[in-house]
Amino acid sequence: MTFPRKDILGTQDMDASEISSILDVTESFVEVSTREVKKVPTLRGKTIINLFYEPSTRTRTSFEIAGKRLSADVINISTSGSSVAKGESLKDTAMTLAAMAADVIVVRHPSSGAPHFLAGHVPCAVINGGDGTHEHPTQALLDLFTIRQRKGSLTGLRVGIIGDIAHSRVARSNIFAMRTLGMDVRVCGPASLLPLEIESLGVRAYTDLDTAIRDVDIIMVLRLQLERQEKGLIPSLREYSQLYGLNLKRLEQAKPDVLIMHPGPINRGVEMAPEVAEGRYSLILDQVANGVALRMALLYLLAGGPGL
Ligand code: CP
Repeated sequence: MTFPRKDILGTQDMDASEISSILDVTESFVEVSTREVKKVPTLRGKTIINLFYEPSTRTRTSFEIAGKRLSADVINISTSGSSVAKGESLKDTAMTLAAMAADVIVVRHPSSGAPHFLAGHVPCAVINGGDGTHEHPTQALLDLFTIRQRKGSLTGLRVGIIGDIAHSRVARSNIFAMRTLGMDVRVCGPASLLPLEIESLGVRAYTDLDTAIRDVDIIMVLRLQLERQEKGLIPSLREYSQLYGLNLKRLEQAKPDVLIMHPGPINRGVEMAPEVAEGRYSLILDQVANGVALRMALLYLLAGGPGL
């Protein structure tokens, strides 16, 4: 099998068979993390650079762990400790790293489109680790893997994505991929956090949470992106939490076997109560664990491990 892409920039242009193939390859990497010695030689001699212009715990760490479990050399670069702090441009930074023979650059950037721009200027593979409010493809793919792992298949499942849809790259990447896979997607949040044209993506928009979560198989709660809010979009955190916070009482309206997801980090007590985050149907830590396997799969596919 030859992977047909140089880069992973988004889910918008992925078809169903490509997504399914990535999830199948992910399956084969889950077991590595359960071994006593969590390492395979697949990417020995390859170099992976994590270039993060925004904070991250899950994405950056799981790419680092994924690369190391595949025996690649992994280097982490953040803005404060690099020449980015001296004003070096994104393009110059990436070309510099590529000149050191990097095989994969994982980039997170506050500007939508930054990874796409980079991909056109460097010969190595580029993976989008989250760009502005645009896409977070690796999060969506690990979410889909986690749902498939629990439910067996994806087509026909009904998902409610709740919260700050307007600022969420996680929502966009999930909507693109879920619609491609034939899933029924609802989005719900205050009107000020629902983009005007959101239904043109093939989803149904709701402003009432109780209605939105009725009969859904999965509730995906989003982080309220406090760092990206313009003034006045929500009246107060207290009111947001009263109307859109997922708590045990609200969950009584949902299917008894509903699964709960959140990409993290959680604003506890704002978008989700701790009892829900840690409750019996929460998949939040499965998402985190599967993030390592999914990122191992993508690094393997892009960095050309043996057997391709
Ligand atoms: N879900 C996610 O992208 O989390 P981090 O910001 O911690 O990487």
